Parts: sequence; C-alpha cells; structure tokens
Amino acid sequence: MCSVVGYNGPRPCRQMILEGLSRLEYRGYDSSGFACIDSTSKIAQVKTQGGIEQLSLKIAAQQGQKQELNGAIGIGHTRWSTHGVSSDINAHPHFDCHKTTAVVHNGIIENFVFLKEKLQLLGHHFISQTDTEVVAHLFEDELKNQSLEKAVLSVVTKIQGAYALLVISEKYPDYLIAIRKSSPLCLGVSSTETFVASDVSAFAGQVDQVVFLPDESFAIISKSGYHVYNFFGERIYPPVQKSTCTWTAEGKAGYAHYMLKEIYEQKRVIIDTVNFLRSHKSAGMQQLNVSHELIQELKNIHFIGCGTSWHAGMIGEYFMQEIAQVSTQSFLASEFRYKKFFPYPRTVTIIISQSGETADSLEALRLLTASEQPTIALANVASSSMVREADGFLLTQAGQEIAVASTKAFTAQVAALYLLAHWIAYIKGLVTTQAIARAEEELFVAGEILENSIERYKFDIITRIAPQYAHYKNFIFLGRHISFPFALEAALKLKEIAYIFVDCYPAGELKHGPLALIDAQTPVVLFSCLDETIYKKLYGNAQEVKARSGHLIVFAFEHQKDLIALADTVFIFPKVNPLLAPLVMTGLVQFFVYQIATLLERPIDRPRNLAKSVTVE
Ligand code: M6R
Repeated sequence: MCSVVGYNGPRPCRQMILEGLSRLEYRGYDSSGFACIDSTSKIAQVKTQGGIEQLSLKIAAQQGQKQELNGAIGIGHTRWSTHGVSSDINAHPHFDCHKTTAVVHNGIIENFVFLKEKLQLLGHHFISQTDTEVVAHLFEDELKNQSLEKAVLSVVTKIQGAYALLVISEKYPDYLIAIRKSSPLCLGVSSTETFVASDVSAFAGQVDQVVFLPDESFAIISKSGYHVYNFFGERIYPPVQKSTCTWTAEGKAGYAHYMLKEIYEQKRVIIDTVNFLRSHKSAGMQQLNVSHELIQELKNIHFIGCGTSWHAGMIGEYFMQEIAQVSTQSFLASEFRYKKFFPYPRTVTIIISQSGETADSLEALRLLTASEQPTIALANVASSSMVREADGFLLTQAGQEIAVASTKAFTAQVAALYLLAHWIAYIKGLVTTQAIARAEEELFVAGEILENSIERYKFDIITRIAPQYAHYKNFIFLGRHISFPFALEAALKLKEIAYIFVDCYPAGELKHGPLALIDAQTPVVLFSCLDETIYKKLYGNAQEVKARSGHLIVFAFEHQKDLIALADTVFIFPKVNPLLAPLVMTGLVQFFVYQIATLLERPIDRPRNLAKSVTVE
C-alpha cells in the first residue's frame, strides 16, 4: 500500500508531485522517490529511505549537481514495504538496465520471482529486492520494437497481481503511462494538464475534473490530453466527473500529535455525524439504495471490515440485533474472502471502512457484487473505491483522520451504526420517530461523557497512572457482550501505538485457559457492561482475577460499587443506554494508551511497520 502520483503538463512538476505524495503519505512512509524527464529528454531521479521530508532534504542537498529535477513529466512514490526492506535501493522508482525507463508501483506483482529469473537468463541486471523492478525490465524489452500501447498490452499479459503503475521512458519522452489492475488510480484533468494518482486528494485544488480509471485499463498521457484503453487494447471513454474533493492542510491545532487532536475531536464528530444523518435522512436512505420492502423482510445483516472497522461492526451487531431485531454477523474481510461463500437471501452486507480503500474489504465487496448480493459501503471518504463500487453508501462525518491509529473514525462508525439500526427499526415498524430523536439525543450525551471523562482523569493519567503502567511488558484485556469488541479495539490501540503486547479475551473464556497467565506482572484491563446480567458475570470474572493475585484496571459505571471496590485502578463513568457503553469509554482509553505511548517515546502518529490505508492484501 504505497502511493503513486504523476504529472504531464506545462508546469515543472516536482513540487506538485511532492505535495501530492505528502497528502497520500498515510498510505506508506518508509521510503519515497521522484523521477522526471528533464530538458534533454533524459531521466533524472532521486529516492531515499524515509518519507517526503527526507526526500525533500535529499533534493535540497543535490541542488547544483548536474541532474535536473525540473521536468514537466514526472512520477513519484511513497512506499510501505512488501518485498525487500526499507532502503534507498528498494525505494521507488525502479529502473531497467540502462536507467532509461522508470517505474513506480502500488500493489504486488505476484509472479515476480518467475519473471525475474527469466529476465536474468536474458541478461537483465537487477539491483533491488522488490517485485516492482521486473516491470521496468519488461518495459525495456517491450519498448524496443513496438508502439507504446502494444508494449503496455504485452507487459500486462505477463504480470500477475494487483497494480497501479506509472511509467516514464526516454524512448517516449513526451508520455506518461498509467496502468491499473485492482489498485486504485485516477486522473485529474484540465484542458492543459493531467495528473494521475492513487487518490484524488493528491491533486485536489489543482484541477477539478476527475476520471477514475476502470479496473484493467491504462492511460497514455501526453501534453495534449489522455487516451484510455482496456486490456484488450480497445479505446474506452470512462466518464469525466466533477471532483468534490477539497484539500485543507490540517495542522495539529496546537496538539502534540494528530492522534491527540483526533481524540479531542470525537464529541464534535458525533454531533456532525448525527446532524448530517438527520438532515440527510431521506437522501441518506436513498443513498443506501435498499428498498423498504427488502428492509421489512430483512433476514440478515452482515458486516465486513478490517481492524478498527471490524470492531465497529462487532459492536454494530448488538445494535442491529437489539434495536432493529435482525440477525447480524460480522466478518473479517481477510478471512471472509477465502471461506466458502453461500449467497444468503434477504441479506444486506455493509462494508465498513474509514478509507474506503482497504484491499481486503474492497475485494470482499467485489466478491459480493459478483454474486449479486446487495452491498452498502459505510465509509468516511466520499470519493473512495468502496463508495463508488457498492450498491449504496452511508458516509460517516469524521473528517480527515491523519494519525494511523483510528480514533474519531471509529467513533463516527459506531454513532452511524446506532442511527442506522434505528432507521431500520423504524422502517420495520418497530419504533417511532420519537425513538430516533431519542437515539440522537443519547449520542449527543455519549459525546459529552466521552470528552468529560478525559478531562476528569487527564491529570491523574498524565502524572500517575500512565507512568505506573508504561513499563509493563504484557497486558490482558477483558470484555463481555458489547464490551468484548470494545476491549479488542482498546487492545489494538495499545499494541499499535505503544508496541505493548496485549492478549484480549471475552471474560467468560478466562477459565478455559488464559487464567493461567494471571500474575501481578500482567495487568488485567476489564471493560464493564451496563446490562445487569452481564455485569454480574463480569464481576465474577474480576473476582477470579483478584483471587489469583492479579492486578485489575477497571472501566466501570458509577453504580457498580462491587466491581469498583475490587479494582486496583478504576475509571468511573455515568450511566448511559447500555448499548452506548463502549462509546463513552472510547476517549478515555485512547487517551490512557496515548499517554503510555508518549512516555515510551513512540512515534505516535506513524507507528513502525504500519500505514494508514492498507491497499495491498
Ligand atoms: O480504512 P479502514 O477502516 O478500512 O482500515 C482498516 C484497518 O486497517 C484500520 O482500522 C486499522 O486497524 C487502524 N489503523 C487501527 O487503528
């Protein structure tokens, strides 16, 4: 999951490409690079380990050298390593033997080992460990005796996998080639210039028309415009759309990290999500694109997602079952894709994703589309592939989330699912409009509590609690019923930004094995529930931990005196609707984890080995 950005037009392109890449850096940031066709029609290039900041420093250090990096046709890349470590050599662009063709790539060339061996036997010399380099060497051969179009067609018959490729070559110095299979790629067009990028935000503000390249197609981009072809070599005419994407450079607004800023934006995100869905109720229902008849007869709702979005779906299961009274199941996209699939009648599948680009979720969506199952994308990015490809969509209003660890997007997903459950219940005749208004009010209250609880414990967490827990090597997180998926989400945050090992269990499973792990060196974090029956069971589980000298951190509600009395450390919340218990705890647990990670001096917004948007399998 890398990002690619290219340009062909009248202007020097380096700065624009670097700006585009920095907007897409959430997709990968372990190395970066740029290449252009210079004024003598030669390729000039620079690449480095590290993100755009390091690349800019390297470019500045090279100023005055004979390489000209000021061409008006160029390509750029930020990388999230799949094949080969992060290094200057493995950074893109990659080149053929004579450095006359440069390639940047997002995706994976699955048969690269086979191709590489074949090319090596033909005398090609490879220098990187990447899968991408084979593409440059293939072009070296294919560009020898045929047209650009034929060369592209020949290369795509040889490579397997997923790819968004940008290619420039000294053999055709006036052209930029963009090729797409599975990985997203779009053109930003005007009458005088053409951008190409993994995502529209790269060129937002530069041009306002966008062409989403269809799957298995390529574009030959010249100064006078572009031509698009399918993989049979036929000219095709994908629609030119007005781009609604705008770009505002989001600063940290005085916060030390984007994650902290985004934690504090959550109350606002809940308000925005509720207000948006309220004012767009009829439009929103239309965008869902599911008939009232189908909703009334709905047998199943399926959620599909990855990471945080999967956890939001698991919480949403409880909303759908209890409020809308529809049997609901959540699936991990990466598992769903490889299980035997039985199309279900009267079933709607909701793909949950912040980015709308996560490869596993997108492929699961495509599988469902191919089986003619109704799909809805619940996404935060309006221009994303999932929103375009699903039958219907519902947009969360989290705004741009920059920190890799998801915070406010999760909150927006949970709030949207809560309202969606009420909408479905209303169409089924189970609740009145007053119940919907009450649900909106409950969400506003939950947002207040979320923020107030951070304020209430802030000082203690910073001065005492985070320092007390930052040096533990392992944690166990427990939840039950609706607090179990929330415990999974909280555990993911601690792993992801603090690099602390966490095992997370449904509390009822303790006695089936994990109880053997309980000792004073492994704090147990237990998330309570408001349902009385579940609470009693959870209290029993807390007793089991204490009886084995375990150290207990509890997130509880104010009337839960017995549980509170057992805890070594406790965070107490006011009572809310039991289904919204996870939402009110969200901000505080994120803040707690954030403070631990800060004490451990972790790179909060960009944890090691990760990227914001996982666009490869
Ligand atoms: O963009 P998506 O919601 O589809 O992303 C799915 C996961 O990659 C994402 O939620 C990930 O788990 C978060 N970084 C966790 O904080």
